[in-house]
Amino acid sequence: MGRARAAAFLLLALLAAAAAAVEGRRQPEGGENACAKGWQCSGSRFCCDGTITDYFKAHHFEELFPRRNDSIAHAVGFWSYQAFIAAAALFEPRGFGTTGGEQMGVKEVAAFLGHVGARTSCGYFYPNPVAWGLCYNREMSPDQNYYCDDSNELYRCVEGVRYYGRGALPVYWNYNYGIIGKGINQDLLSHPELLEQNATIAFEAAIWRWMTPVKRRQPSPHDVSVGNWKPTKSDTLSKRYPGFGATMNIIYGDHICGRGFVGEMDFTLSHYQHYLDLMGVGREHSGDNLDCADQVAFNPSSENSDS
Ligand SMILES: *[C@@H]1O[C@H](CO)[C@@H](O)[C@H](O)[C@H]1NC(C)=O
Ligand SMILES: *[C@@H]1O[C@H](CO)[C@@H](O)[C@H](O)[C@H]1NC(C)=O
Repeated sequence: MGRARAAAFLLLALLAAAAAAVEGRRQPEGGENACAKGWQCSGSRFCCDGTITDYFKAHHFEELFPRRNDSIAHAVGFWSYQAFIAAAALFEPRGFGTTGGEQMGVKEVAAFLGHVGARTSCGYFYPNPVAWGLCYNREMSPDQNYYCDDSNELYRCVEGVRYYGRGALPVYWNYNYGIIGKGINQDLLSHPELLEQNATIAFEAAIWRWMTPVKRRQPSPHDVSVGNWKPTKSDTLSKRYPGFGATMNIIYGDHICGRGFVGEMDFTLSHYQHYLDLMGVGREHSGDNLDCADQVAFNPSSENSDS
């Protein structure tokens, strides 16, 4: 799968995120029940309102990612259910997987992990390609001068540090490491390797990306997943409607969307639907507007031409 194209994904998606520091904290229904439901959210006053662990158990994780320790996998033993849950717990108070009841929670987690599974898969050419998510935690053959954009003054490349793709929704380029690091309180600009050394931080970075709009007045993938987003007239004219397709539009823009039924779009969508089946909700509840084949990108790559 084209690495150069993959390289540009988050570049596009994150260029403007610095300004959009998001505080989409929404109070859950049900008030302030203090509770300590265990390691995943102890001390949180939100956890009694339902958590991801209510419907997404360790065995689900094993079923979604059964080949991640295979002999051809490249991150054997790295990814774990505990890491995902620990990272998710930081974002559950903002509604990640906890908005709108259990079925909506399952759908959001399946959608998020669908993106992750497709981006970290090594099964593109194997039978049952949807079984190979979490095979990678880093780009294997980095090129592109290690993705250093010297012109970015806010997030200058650190001497000797390389910004090739790493993580669960792979991060590329100094400025994306900078923005995301700021978002999750880790110095990823100096230590991008954290995303290939610590699975909790890798999931945190990916969920932060999921929860954070690229620009003001644009939805985050989370907003789209839970029905928080109402398309504007300009969205409608650009064929952007609420649904899984719009989450691909936000994350990959015209690298996947607006190009007809390209392989990488189908690949991502099939992970989402496969995971919905495995999590017991079923692909018949995938929702409308699943593809982005004829959507215009929220942020066209021509506007961010330094890729
Ligand atoms: C993969 O390896 C981890 C760590 O060794 C282990 O906990 C997990 O059960 C394994 N899962 C699969 C599907 O092989
Ligand atoms: C990984 O990062 C998390 C979150 O910052 C931290 O709590 C944990 O100790 C780290 N794990 C390792 C093995 O360094």
